[in-house]
Amino acid sequence: MKTTRLLHVTAAIVLLLLVALSPPLVSGNPGRRVSMTLVRDAAALGAFCLDGSLPAYNLDRGFGAGSNNWLLQFEGGGWCNDIASCVDRSKTFRGSTRFMSKTVVFSGILSNNASLNPDFYNWNRVRLRYCDGASFAGDTQFGNGTSLLYFRGQRIWNAIILDLLPKGLAKARKALLTGCSAGGLSTFLHCDNFTSYLPKTANVKCMSDAGFFLDAIDVASNRTMRSLYTQLVSLQGIQKNLDPNCTRAFYPEPSLCFFPQYVLRFIKTPFFILNSAYDVFQFHHGLVPPSADRTGRWNRCKRNVTACNPHQLDALQGFRNDMLGTLMNFFRNSTRGGMFINSCFDHCQSALQETWFSPTSPRIHNKTIAETVGDWYFGREKEAKEIDCPYPCDKTCHNLIPASTDSLAPNAPDHNSRGGRSQVDLDDLIS
Ligand SMILES: *[C@@H]1O[C@H](CO)[C@@H](O)[C@H](O)[C@H]1NC(C)=O
Ligand SMILES: *[C@@H]1O[C@H](CO)[C@@H](O)[C@H](O)[C@H]1NC(C)=O
Ligand SMILES: *[C@@H]1O[C@H](CO)[C@@H](O)[C@H](O)[C@H]1NC(C)=O
Ligand SMILES: *[C@@H]1O[C@H](CO)[C@@H](O)[C@H](O)[C@H]1NC(C)=O
Ligand SMILES: *[C@@H]1O[C@H](CO)[C@@H](O)[C@H](O)[C@H]1NC(C)=O
Ligand SMILES: *[C@@H]1O[C@H](CO)[C@@H](O)[C@H](O)[C@H]1NC(C)=O
Ligand SMILES: *[C@@H]1O[C@H](CO)[C@@H](O)[C@H](O)[C@H]1NC(C)=O
Ligand SMILES: *[C@@H]1O[C@H](CO)[C@@H](O)[C@H](O)[C@H]1NC(C)=O
Repeated sequence: MKTTRLLHVTAAIVLLLLVALSPPLVSGNPGRRVSMTLVRDAAALGAFCLDGSLPAYNLDRGFGAGSNNWLLQFEGGGWCNDIASCVDRSKTFRGSTRFMSKTVVFSGILSNNASLNPDFYNWNRVRLRYCDGASFAGDTQFGNGTSLLYFRGQRIWNAIILDLLPKGLAKARKALLTGCSAGGLSTFLHCDNFTSYLPKTANVKCMSDAGFFLDAIDVASNRTMRSLYTQLVSLQGIQKNLDPNCTRAFYPEPSLCFFPQYVLRFIKTPFFILNSAYDVFQFHHGLVPPSADRTGRWNRCKRNVTACNPHQLDALQGFRNDMLGTLMNFFRNSTRGGMFINSCFDHCQSALQETWFSPTSPRIHNKTIAETVGDWYFGREKEAKEIDCPYPCDKTCHNLIPASTDSLAPNAPDHNSRGGRSQVDLDDLIS
């Protein structure tokens, strides 16, 4: 593969706050507030947030039949790929536990309520707080006398695991490593390493939510995501933590192994990929980044898909075809894998109650995400690989698109109602 020159990339990629800001569509219990635990032993391991603060997690203990089962969820929140954006981040809740909310509402896949989270409600559930800006994978630091930044995501991952092992993780019978967005990407990067810490007899699996970031070509024909990740891998010293079998195969461009599509075939642990084929973050930052649309022709379409012109819809369908194309081998050949690739304009669907499991949740083949993931995890179905038909066929979507993915503006409400849907053959999509 040719070496790509670094381009001037958007300095900071800002997270979508869909999960935090969506108006609740399900009334009633919003979920339990769980308090934060600082990892005191992290300092001895050199595991720090960007600003040097201690890393943390929020743990809600399992109970009953789930007491020995563990679900770990990486928190998401974009990346910082240059010194300036990492300095900025280190002064916010994305780069320091000093500025984080000390409690987190556990909903969706983290809920402790059996009627909201039927398969995992009684497990030990842990939210790994994100404060390193590189999907828990960096290992270096920056210092010039006046500024000091810690790029220690990999050590944070290690420190949290070492902290949880004596709390019962070491004796786990069942375990699921998951995460959303930048945390969904972490799931690909750390899945096999997670397995290595657990008993050989444990049933260990991994699921990425909205973490399948494509090595896409944007509408101005640039590889914006590749440039971003190349910078990030270099800045934060990630390369040595990438899967060695993958980096060997991709020499001389080992940083490509930060992309799920390239590392996927090296992962040995059973894996589930949950993603929208029109993931809003990727639409706004991978397919149509601001640098590729300086005149703003895409602005209305980005805000509301019903405003997209036929040319723009073609680009979106092309993006979906690319995603399905890169998943083809996994779809065909992975015997223990699962997938749920729906066609809703969304980003992160497992942490939000209304998309995870509710009467109005998105569905494929009349099954919610929670049911499909549960069927896969517990082997209740032989095949748990669902691919939705292309937009606009799926009437179960909420299509929660924020006014701008760069702002923290609340989302507009959904415009679709429930209805029928159908599955398509992958063959028809790839040709
Ligand atoms: C669990 O969720 C259901 C459905 O929202 C609700 O009716 C019930 O009160 C909840 N149970 C608890 C213990 O919060
Ligand atoms: C150190 O880096 C910071 C952040 O880039 C910058 O603001 C500062 O001027 C630098 N200091 C020196 C002495 O170069
Ligand atoms: C898992 O990662 C840690 C560092 O985070 C490393 O020390 C350990 O050797 C890794 N385990 C395996 C089996 O690769
Ligand atoms: C690399 O691949 C070999 C052969 O499949 C395998 O035995 C080994 O465990 C892999 N290494 C890692 C770190 O996954
Ligand atoms: C994108 O590609 C065009 C040529 O297709 C180039 O002129 C432009 O500088 C690139 N933009 C960025 C942000 O890399
Ligand atoms: C599935 O694996 C076989 C054998 O490794 C390979 O020949 C085939 O191309 C793979 N299928 C797809 C769709 O990639
Ligand atoms: C879809 O599933 C629900 C239960 O989850 C069931 O009540 C309904 O009859 C199913 N609809 C179809 C068309 O199968
Ligand atoms: C998108 O536009 C359509 C048609 O104008 C409107 O009905 C719908 O409410 C809008 N959806 C959102 C999420 O704003």
